[in-house]
Amino acid sequence: MKEIKIFSPATVANVACGFDVLGFCLDSIGDEMIIRKISKKGIIITKIEGYDLPYEAELNVAGVSALALIEDANPDCGFEIEIYKNIKPGSGIGSSAASAAGSVFGINELLGRPYSNTDLTYFAMKGEAVASKSEHADNLAPAIFGGFTLVKSISPLEILEIPTPTELYATIIHPQIEIKTSEARAILPTEVALQDAITQWANVGSLIHALHTSDYGLLQRSLQDVIVEPYRSKLIPFFDDVKQAALNAGALGAAISGSGPSIFMLCHGPEDAKKVENAIQIVYAETNIEFDTYISKINTAGIKIL
Ligand code: HSE
Repeated sequence: MKEIKIFSPATVANVACGFDVLGFCLDSIGDEMIIRKISKKGIIITKIEGYDLPYEAELNVAGVSALALIEDANPDCGFEIEIYKNIKPGSGIGSSAASAAGSVFGINELLGRPYSNTDLTYFAMKGEAVASKSEHADNLAPAIFGGFTLVKSISPLEILEIPTPTELYATIIHPQIEIKTSEARAILPTEVALQDAITQWANVGSLIHALHTSDYGLLQRSLQDVIVEPYRSKLIPFFDDVKQAALNAGALGAAISGSGPSIFMLCHGPEDAKKVENAIQIVYAETNIEFDTYISKINTAGIKIL
């Protein structure tokens, strides 16, 4: 195989209580990438459509992760990358992760799959770190593995795949403002109160149990973030109104997607997801901020070969 075309999906990191460790993969939004073997060694980015991003491989998240992989693999060829971006950078739904994960996934396929999904996540972390100024894998792991993932540790990298209840849907609202992950991280406290930590780790544990047992009631009671949301929600206009409208319309939970500004809701079934979408559209339609909304099944496959 000389060339591969892939769909690299958007993802939701943190999932309310699991800052930097939990994430899930979306189906209805993502980037496309074409990766091609070339005789000249190295990585060349030949096309970027959709958003203005650097072409220099050393400055581009897809390029940096690809360089990390080929430095390890040392193949006797190079790779050209074309990126067709649909996920807006700074949207909170894993734009940089989709690029970073997509390039290493594609190159691995073209090399005959020498690397595991955990290896690919490791290389992709090098690219993701360019965008967010810190290494974390909570957007990358769900893009590469699919479904829900828990990053047990980044050093050594250990990723757990968590089951996805079949009736679970995500509704997303993306207000058209940009929040840089690095800035949304800089405002967080470096210490947390013990009582908040107790609440948060109880929620993480019960959320994982709810996903394993398809217990939608427990899932609802677990989707709560007492540590990060109080700081970051201030960056997102009308966050409280959207959250309240979503919960009133039947969402199991609503929280910031990654570092924002997107807000995600998890819903039991497509009808509830649609009701929730209508309710949050009403909130934002009354503002002068442009926005998009999406409904997605949880993508249990992750990156797809087209
Ligand atoms: N866990 C990360 C954060 C996800 O919330 O900062 C965004 O890259």
